Formats: sequence, C-alpha cells, structure tokens
Amino acid sequence: MTEDEDGDGYDLVVVANRLPVDRVVDDDGTVHWQQSPGGLVTAMESVMTGREGAWVGWSGDPGEAPEPFDDGGMHLHAVGLTAEEVADHYEGFSNDTLWPLYHDVIVAPRYRRSWYEGYRRVNQRFAQAAADLAAPDATVWVHDYQLQLVPQMLRELRPDVRIGWFNHIPFPSVELFAQLPWRRAVVQGLLGADLLGFQRRADAENFLRVCRRLLALPTRGDTVTVPDPTGEGTRTVRAAAFPISIDERSLEELARTPAVVERARQIRHDLGDPERLLLGVDRLDYTKGIRHRLKAYEELLADGVLKPPGTVLVQVATPSRERVTAYRLLREQVELTVGRANGDHGAIGSPAIHYLHQSFDRAEMAALYLAADVMLVTPLRDGMNLVAKEYVACRYDEGGALVLSEFTGASGELDRAFLCNPHDIDGLKTTIRAALDADPREKRRRMRALRRRVREHDVQRWADDFLAALVVAPGRPA
Ligand code: ADP
Ligand code: G6P
Repeated sequence: MTEDEDGDGYDLVVVANRLPVDRVVDDDGTVHWQQSPGGLVTAMESVMTGREGAWVGWSGDPGEAPEPFDDGGMHLHAVGLTAEEVADHYEGFSNDTLWPLYHDVIVAPRYRRSWYEGYRRVNQRFAQAAADLAAPDATVWVHDYQLQLVPQMLRELRPDVRIGWFNHIPFPSVELFAQLPWRRAVVQGLLGADLLGFQRRADAENFLRVCRRLLALPTRGDTVTVPDPTGEGTRTVRAAAFPISIDERSLEELARTPAVVERARQIRHDLGDPERLLLGVDRLDYTKGIRHRLKAYEELLADGVLKPPGTVLVQVATPSRERVTAYRLLREQVELTVGRANGDHGAIGSPAIHYLHQSFDRAEMAALYLAADVMLVTPLRDGMNLVAKEYVACRYDEGGALVLSEFTGASGELDRAFLCNPHDIDGLKTTIRAALDADPREKRRRMRALRRRVREHDVQRWADDFLAALVVAPGRPA
C-alpha cells in the first residue's frame, strides 16, 4: 500500500465530487455499488488502477457517509452530504450555476447566494477529508468544477502537500466568467494549487486572462504570480493544457473479444440488419447537442434521404441530474422528438429511432460502438468528449465513421473526423450524409489517423504528464 507503514496517510490522494462507485439502495433495503456516471470517473478509474492511493468523494446519495472501504487497490473515503447540501452544492451551484456558465451559457446560469454557501461548506469538508488522509508531502489531485475552492482551503490546512487541480470541462472566457458573483473567491480558491490543468490551451488562456483582468495578477507565459496571504513573498501557479484521454488498449482488447464481436452482430440483427446504423451515446445533457442531432436526422427522414428499416439510429441517453429543471425539460423535448419521428417515419417493427434512457456495462458499450457505421458526437460545448475517443478505440477493424462537433475538446486532436457545427442544421445534415456515403478507402484512412492519435495519447500518458508537471511546478514561495 502507499499508506505509510506507521499509518501516516497516503502519498496520492484523489479528490473528486463523486467516488468511482455510486451507492444504490434497492427497494428491499439491500445496498450495492455501481460505477458512477461520466467521463471523469471513466478516466480516473483507469489511471488509479495499479497506482494505489486514496480517493475522497461523495457516494451519490444524500445521507450519512458509508464507512471508508478499500476497492481495486484504492482506499475510498466517502464525504456525506445532507439532502440540503445535495440541493445547494451539487444540483444548485455546481450544476445550475457553474455547469451552464462554463458551457457558454447554453442555458442561463442561476445565481443564488444560498447555493454558494452550500458549495463553500461542502468544499471545506472535502478539503478537510483530504488533509486528514494525505501523508506528509503527499500529492493531492483535486478534480473539476465542483471543488474549485478546495485547493486554497487545503493549502491552509496542509501547506506541505503538493496540490494539482484538473478541470474536466471548459473554462469560459473572461466576459462570461465575469458574471459570477463569487468570481474572486473561485479564482482565489483555484490559486491555492501548484498546477492547474485544463483540457485545451484556450481554456488555460481564459483562466490566465481572468487572473489578469479580474484580479489584476501578473501573468508570464503559462504562470501567474500570487501574493502570499502572509504578505511575505509570492507563489507561482502554472495553468496549462493536458487533454484527457481513455484507456485505449484495454478498450480495444475488450472490443476484440469474441463475446463483444458476437454481441455487435446480434445488435445489428435485432435492429433488422440495417444497411446503415447510426449511433449517439451521451449523458442526457443539454451540452451534448442531442436535440440538434435529432432535428438533423428527422429532416433527413422527412426529405426521404434516409429511410428505416434500411437506416436506423440508436440513441443511448444516460439519465443525468434529473432533479435540475433544465435536464427535466431536455428529457421531455428529446422524448417528444423521438416519439414524433417514430410516429411519422417508423413502421410496425421498425422504428426510425431506438431510444434507450439507460446505463450499460463496458462490454455492451463496446459492442454498440463496434456495430455502428456512423457515430454522432454533436455537442454544443464539451470539455473533451471521451465517447468520441472510445468509438475510435473500439474500431480495430478500421471501419465506421466519426461525425464530431468542432465545439468539443476532442476535435482539436481528432481533426480527421467528419467535423461539424451542430448549430448549422443544413451543414450537419450534409456532414452526416458525407460520413454515410464516403468512399470506404477514405473512411479507413481517416479512422487509421484517428486511432493513431488516441493510441499515442492515452489516459496513462495524460496522468503521467500531469503528475510529472506537478512535481516540477514552480509552486513554492519565492
Ligand atoms: P461526460 O463526462 O460529459 O458524461 P464523456 O463523453 O467525456 O462525457 O464521458 C462519458 C462517459 O460515460 C464515457 O466513458 C461513456 O462510455 C460513458 N457512458 C455514456 N453513456 C453511457 C451509458 N448509457 N451507459 C454506460 N456508460 C455510459
Ligand atoms: C462530467 C463532469 C464530472 C461529472 C460527470 C457526471 O463528466 O465533468 O465531474 O461527475 O459529468 O455528472 P454527475 O453530475 O452525475 O456527477
């Protein structure tokens, strides 16, 4: 174990809003744990396999924290949130204020003082838990927008530890960030870290601009100089891009297994062996451009360009943040559209869109990817989008085609995809047709290039790069 023999604590502590597993209490009261949703957990679970350390996070339901337990070589330490804290910190400030603000205000962020109070209180609790678990001079890796106050809070509790923070989502322009009533406190919270990691260079640059323009802090290259609260000297904080990725090898390995290959064949068979199968896989989130995608698809059906049962779309939409109003509305709109499209264009036994509001295991996801001729990834804004990379990783056969929004972090790396602007419905229709009709040799060439990129920049490399940069981060008082 990385825990010191004398019980001093852990050399590596991951701090994320969620634990890698969610606690689920069944109707009969029995408790089981299942993988938490989202890209953060997908990525960090792979990173922590074989690394050992502690993970501080919430169990995904309100109430008392379960006792700490060990799982997969990690020590999992749950932070308990009351129902009120879930409403204020998680649903409110994290997902009704910060999430829309950081995703280009696709829906209007709501600013409520009581939500921020809950956020601050919960961040303090996470900081305390990390401080209690970290060994002397440990590395603490804080994650994402839900915990932006933790770095400074932790520094005050444990000045000896090295603190990194990584933002899995975009960081907005100064013009948008300036709306946030608590903008100074959030930036000061982040500046407690030694290294701040972002998905794209543009995100890191936005953050540095915020430091200059809103806090009048001097920046130089990718660093910002922060006065020490004692008034004695300064610290230097680095803000740089580390594009996240997936565990390409293990996913490809899974996709190659006979069971997954057979399941992919079975899926196509169950869908009526269509000539062309399109696939969308997203958390049911308004950032993912699901409505734009469905609109384009519905128009292609209405134009007579696509026709079931020859062409079929499968849309998997993972349930997400269902108590937040914008998510409830989105679900209604998506389900209305799917119903209308099937009513207008489906036939008995052959709907135009197969809609699945469910979670699946990794093998089923790999089979879906392997089965799909065209993968539709059309977010209006997305920090990275791991689904795009997963699709590519599964296509060891060099088949398939990826339609990818320009507004994803992934598009910066996967520029041989069929790139699209999801706001431009005509353009999106043209791109979908191009992906469906492209010459097979051309598609293969593109897929080969995409696969090379994902293989060479996998999640282990991402974590190694980040942790190596954290070790040499300027950080300490000058
Ligand atoms: P986000 O983090 O915003 O949800 P990403 O595309 O980066 O978006 O990551 C989503 C992760 O969740 C991927 O690893 C994907 O495989 C997984 N996922 C998405 N939908 C489902 C689902 N219905 N069942 C299981 N896993 C899913
Ligand atoms: C994105 C965020 C994560 C979050 C995940 C799932 O990946 O970057 O921080 O955990 O979505 O969202 P949820 O609200 O269910 O945790």
